[in-house]
Amino acid sequence: MTRLNKFLSECGVASRRKSDELIEQGRVTVNGKTIIEFGFQVNESEDDVKVDGERIHHRNKVYFILNKPKGTVTTTDDEKGRRTVVDLIKTNEKIFPVGRLDYNTTGLLLLTNDGEFANHLMHPRNKITREYQVKLDKDLGREDKIKLERGIILERRRSRFTSIQFTDTKNFRSVTVTTVEGRNHFVKRMFHALGYFVKELNRNSYGPFKLKELPVGSYVKLDEKEISKVYDKKK
Ligand code: URA
Repeated sequence: MTRLNKFLSECGVASRRKSDELIEQGRVTVNGKTIIEFGFQVNESEDDVKVDGERIHHRNKVYFILNKPKGTVTTTDDEKGRRTVVDLIKTNEKIFPVGRLDYNTTGLLLLTNDGEFANHLMHPRNKITREYQVKLDKDLGREDKIKLERGIILERRRSRFTSIQFTDTKNFRSVTVTTVEGRNHFVKRMFHALGYFVKELNRNSYGPFKLKELPVGSYVKLDEKEISKVYDKKK
């Protein structure tokens, strides 16, 4: 037996949190009955689980790393008809992005139909490190660098970069930052709080996954061995 929200995320319907929302909205039925309890237990091989009337099956799990280009939205579909990150990947599986990158942010984005995997990477408790390459509108001052590493108050929460490094010794507008934060627009908002504007942003890595030489707009499929690294203690 498996909890209903876990079953839905394992089947690639959505992350566990999003699955809870679907349950709460009364969109999930088990053997024809609407279930609104997250903890409801289902028998994976026998029960007939439907979301919006559509039967849910266990699917093959797939994982991709995309080098997201500018001008793409990190959703599965866009009401304004803009190009989404999912449009860039050829697969018959129903995949979704792990977390989000802004419209004009480039770099490493994971896409999968494995809700547990996505959940693990995004959960703040797991403190997964993200590394970003940042171009600022002006030189980053020494004092401000220290403040951002020690922590500032953002949305009433103490917030910091784990590290900030200048990309080269002569250019103080180009920095590499690492953080375990996944809040929306986190990098931009951190710099903005001290009067800087982020002109360009690229994610180099997310947990054990690195962009390496992957060209912008291209993607690679990951295998089981690479995926299992996510669950290692050291990231
Ligand atoms: N932080 C941001 O500000 N934007 C992103 O796209 C990712 C992290």
